[in-house]
Amino acid sequence: MATLIDGKAAAAQLNQASQQIVLQLKDKFGLTPALAVVLVGQDPASQVYVRNKILQAEQAGIHSIEKRFDADLDTDTLMTVIEGLNNDPTVNGILVQLPLPAHIDAAKVIAGIAAHKDVDGFHITNTGLLMTGEGRPLMPCTPQGCVILAKQYLGDNLSGKHAVVLGRSNIVGKPLAIMLLQENCTVTIAHSRTADLEGVCRSADILFVAVGRPQLVKGSWIKPGATVIDVGINRIRVSEHGSRLVGDVDFESALDVAGAITPVPGGVGPMTIACLLRNTLVAACDQHGIDGAEAGL
Ligand code: GUN
Repeated sequence: MATLIDGKAAAAQLNQASQQIVLQLKDKFGLTPALAVVLVGQDPASQVYVRNKILQAEQAGIHSIEKRFDADLDTDTLMTVIEGLNNDPTVNGILVQLPLPAHIDAAKVIAGIAAHKDVDGFHITNTGLLMTGEGRPLMPCTPQGCVILAKQYLGDNLSGKHAVVLGRSNIVGKPLAIMLLQENCTVTIAHSRTADLEGVCRSADILFVAVGRPQLVKGSWIKPGATVIDVGINRIRVSEHGSRLVGDVDFESALDVAGAITPVPGGVGPMTIACLLRNTLVAACDQHGIDGAEAGL
């Protein structure tokens, strides 16, 4: 029976640390970090995510600014809003919740966020720095959470492990693969067109799954003893009136084979917001020339 990797507990620990750092920043530097969250439209899942981001930021002592707009907002107006946040010295982090309505040019919007305030780590300046290993980029939150959870079970040294990342999105798969390379893993990125996908997954010491396909990965796809990090959050119908959340991994069958696995919910999900808050503190320190280590980062 696999060990459960408790993302909720890990996130709580990280948030507690963030709360302490905020106190330090307020005390020592008179700085209250601030995060602006922009939501366009009424997508129900996005509304829940944004509410949780705001709530948890406030709990950590981070000031939050919520900007909500109707779905018919045009790209130019949104760009003007972002410009205002870029130029506001009291705003340290800017997050535009995705997906944006189809008529909005998402790439243009992301490119319009000042790179040093891009707490999602999606701006090409940050992705480029991540890719080359230069400087101190703001790094995407979900992949950061995945690496922290893998290390929680395996220890800090992931060197030489074969990490398979199933999924190639810009938000999770691609940046995660780069982060794992920097941890000296041997990395394979697999996807829907990968030949012998099951066999590739079965060769992983650490298997990360981020494809948005409920329960795709079965226990038979997992090498005995492997560490499985499940990024998927899918709502499936279980009866006429009932539904439940499941990951991209078939948890029941994986439990018998894996050495350790993240549950859904309670695995990677809570880590994403915890890493977002941490990114906001990193951004705030960098913008004020504060050595993050001095504040406990
Ligand atoms: N939508 C799904 N995940 C994310 C995320 O990490 N950041 C933003 N901005 N939108 C998302």
